[in-house]
Amino acid sequence: MLNIVIFGAPGSGKGTQSERIVEKFGINHISTGDVLRAEIKNETALGKTAKKYIDQGQLVPDELIIDILASVLDSLKESKGVIFDGFPRTIPQAEALKAMLNKRGQDVSVMLDLDVPEEELIVRLLKRGEESGRADDNMETIKKRLLVYNTQTSPLKDFYKKEGKYQHIKGIGTMESIFAAIVSAVEKL
Ligand code: AP5
Ligand code: MG
Repeated sequence: MLNIVIFGAPGSGKGTQSERIVEKFGINHISTGDVLRAEIKNETALGKTAKKYIDQGQLVPDELIIDILASVLDSLKESKGVIFDGFPRTIPQAEALKAMLNKRGQDVSVMLDLDVPEEELIVRLLKRGEESGRADDNMETIKKRLLVYNTQTSPLKDFYKKEGKYQHIKGIGTMESIFAAIVSAVEKL
């Protein structure tokens, strides 16, 4: 089982690189952000709750997101592994993920930390905001998302360093060169 946590700030390329990893290694992709945006689009009760947090650049409460992740994970049959994109984002989420995987006799294989300077993140997100119009890709919300990342999510690097799972990836350059660095890290596992 190959269970990858793809980690990094908003705009660091988690979604972009996840698509390539899925294609190369044949594992499933769970993006909690994509799950929440689908719920918002379908105007479900969950979507209505999630929208309030996402529009403010805040994290959806742990209990809610952990339940969502558990049910998506349960729905996967015959999986060769999973790439977790945008989850975990807090220590309780990382502990919950560990417990869920351990229950299945598995664990996180590696945490890939896509490291991108903040100026570049802002350029990428503003550009995407103009092109595809994701509601949270505006300057005000981007700043909040970056603050939340730096205060609540970034400490997970130490969590995975302690677990011996941390792998730094230089997240600037072409999408191809970053993917090559990821493949070489995964193939060394
Ligand atoms: P989520 O959807 O996870 O958003 P995010 O973390 O803010 O990250 P993005 O999806 O914006 O960026 P990415 O790293 O995937 O980069 P991408 O590949 O798109 O979460 C959204 C919200 O949902 C959260 O704020 C929160 O409210 C809620 N949420 C989700 N999960 C949660 C959880 N676990 N707990 C609580 N709340 C949760 O790339 C960005 C752009 O850059 C693209 O346009 C891409 O084309 C471009 N790009 C990519 N690579 C390169 C490159 N090498 N060079 C130039 N441009 C590039
Ligand atoms: Mg994404």
